[in-house]
Amino acid sequence: MVKHHVKDIKLAAEGKKRIEWADNDMPVLAEIRQRFAKEKPLSGKKMSACLHVTAETANLARTVQAGGADLVLVASNPLSTQDDVAASLVKDYGISVYAIKGEDHKTYYEHIHAALKHDPIITMDDGADLVSTLHQEYPEKCADIFASMEETTTGVIRLRAMHKDGALKLPVFAVNDALTKYLFDNRYGTGQSTVDGIIRATDILLAGKNVVVAGYGWCGRGFAMRCKGMGANVILTEVDPIKALEAAMDGFQVMPMEKAAGIGDLFVTITGDINVIRKEHFQNMKDGAIVANSGHFNVEIDIPALEKLAVQKRTDIRKYVDEYRLKNGNRIFLLAQGRLINLAAAEGHPASVMDMSFATQALTTEFALKEKKTPGVYLVPKDVEDYISTLKLKTMGIQIDVLTEEQKEYLSSWELGT
Ligand SMILES: NC(=O)c1ccc[n+]([C@@H]2O[C@H](COP(=O)([O-])OP(=O)(O)OC[C@H]3O[C@@H](n4cnc5c(N)ncnc54)[C@H](O)[C@@H]3O)[C@@H](O)[C@H]2O)c1
Repeated sequence: MVKHHVKDIKLAAEGKKRIEWADNDMPVLAEIRQRFAKEKPLSGKKMSACLHVTAETANLARTVQAGGADLVLVASNPLSTQDDVAASLVKDYGISVYAIKGEDHKTYYEHIHAALKHDPIITMDDGADLVSTLHQEYPEKCADIFASMEETTTGVIRLRAMHKDGALKLPVFAVNDALTKYLFDNRYGTGQSTVDGIIRATDILLAGKNVVVAGYGWCGRGFAMRCKGMGANVILTEVDPIKALEAAMDGFQVMPMEKAAGIGDLFVTITGDINVIRKEHFQNMKDGAIVANSGHFNVEIDIPALEKLAVQKRTDIRKYVDEYRLKNGNRIFLLAQGRLINLAAAEGHPASVMDMSFATQALTTEFALKEKKTPGVYLVPKDVEDYISTLKLKTMGIQIDVLTEEQKEYLSSWELGT
């Protein structure tokens, strides 16, 4: 068997069923996999991927493997691994996986080191932990990397900051910034799966609740839209005036967190920022307020401040729910230790939306191998986006109009006016 570190290899049979179920809803990736199997564009290329180890990621792993890549897969979050999927990838598909749900900080980084010791020439990241460790601990290996793909907003922000500082030593493709990724995955994927994670963890009724959403970016608006549809009173907090205006004109109440703190029944941060909910907000919250995060890192809620404020803490009063009692007697329920609620308590994004994100990953990897670029953060080529959106529409049975010759001419001319 290939090298691995998974929870229990005997879970493989369940994992295989899960991978196959997800595959039913990933037709674009399946088409790319079929072509990769014939053309082998990644033949013999060593790859390391640091992604959420879920059934959808398994189908991406199968796709790059079909293309000929020699892949090592590790977790990009200690709580998001599906242990049965990890086992099946090792046993049924012969892919090296290092990921265990609930792994501690030390194990998490041992797994990242295993990925880097594989000497990859292509890497994939979700939050830039792999590229960041590479630069800090194996700087000599950077020159061998052809390109790295970055899956999420927070990772792209980190990588752009590295490039601005002159610290980035390899070319990165901002897969997150492809329209075929963020317009769908961040909005509809995070929107639905964040609701799913909160409901699985708490079993609360959203109808009639005051739901406070921090951040009206692509993820935040997806989640706010879903909560509104389920009958919640949704309140938005923002720091960007344009986003705040959009939220207001989309029909949401907009106010500072300081004010929202005393009103909310459920608080969800999705900003990519730090300490968005902090001491003064906890102190203002109602008894029984539920607090969760769906942004990338577990820093959006100031958990150390909550720990300090609490006079009593009871962990796991339900799975993924910790209770903090404050001096004033009020209880605050923190979900999934402030980690991505949709991946910790639910199954992450539905396969249909990951079909587009991972088709973007696979095709950008193929593109990246054609020509080595200088260090920097690059956008996904438009051809890749056009191919994926056209094929996705086809698999959904949706047809659209085509420009006539007259329309093409009109849209490219400037003479014709009133
Ligand atoms: N849960 C998931 O599966 C998942 C999926 C995709 C992205 N993400 C992560 O979610 C986060 C948000 O991603 P996005 O694509 O929506 O980003 P985005 O840049 O589109 O939106 C973030 C929004 O948060 C706002 N913001 C920043 N600081 C704030 C603060 N203190 N208070 C209120 N609002 C604030 C910004 O103004 C912006 O409008 C990132 O960390 C990203 O990596 C999570």
